Amino acid sequence: MEKGRLLYEGKAKQLFETDDENILFVSYKDSATAFNGEKKEDIDGKGILNNKITTILFEQLKSKGIESHFVEQISDNEQLVRKVDIIPLEVVVRNIAAGSLSKRLGIKEGTPLKHTIVEFYYKDDELGDPLLTNAHIELLALATPEEIETLQTKALEINQVLQPIFKEIGVTLIDFKLEFGKTANGEILLADEISPDTCRLWDDKTNNKLDKDVFRRNLGSLTEVYEIILSRLGGLSK
Ligand code: C5P
Repeated sequence: MEKGRLLYEGKAKQLFETDDENILFVSYKDSATAFNGEKKEDIDGKGILNNKITTILFEQLKSKGIESHFVEQISDNEQLVRKVDIIPLEVVVRNIAAGSLSKRLGIKEGTPLKHTIVEFYYKDDELGDPLLTNAHIELLALATPEEIETLQTKALEINQVLQPIFKEIGVTLIDFKLEFGKTANGEILLADEISPDTCRLWDDKTNNKLDKDVFRRNLGSLTEVYEIILSRLGGLSK
């Protein structure tokens, strides 16, 4: 498949047209950003690691009946995906308190939540991705009440699949962010990526952070911990 015109460039990925109007070409970049782009660095090899980890997780989800935009990995840092219109919501699932939840509500990081919660944030850099209530989502016409329900249900189903995958490799899935898109026929499909950039992953034995908090909080080498995740998922040689 031919790589065509650059359609969109985000903080971590580039999207290109292909000769098939329903398929896009995604190229994972080496740049790492945090705090709405305030902290920024190029990290050699990061794009390859996230591409490979996302590929493994989207394939595992598919094998459990959860479809995504993912079509196939075509090189170390590239994949083909179905074209969708991204819904401008970040859907965050939390099993254990950390990050902005701990800050906002004063719950100590690492405290297990009574039950898993799903939050929505507005994907808008200028506004700093604010937390949204369902009323806000409807007010901004970002999704209908039925679509909000679908997003919530899908997010919890994905959590049910991801939690045991990580448990098996000695890692706790603390929280993660998902994005969804709509296909031409209006179907809501999981999109974007699932990687240590978008999840909090803590080692069960050491409690070490194996995710982007290593970069956000200057805790060491980002690629070293992403490589641990990839190798435990069995993907280092792929
Ligand atoms: O910062 P916060 O605690 O709200 O993040 C919750 C989860 O969502 C974390 O796993 C984080 O990596 C992810 N996230 C993300 N992209 C954002 C904001 C949060 O992947 N823009």
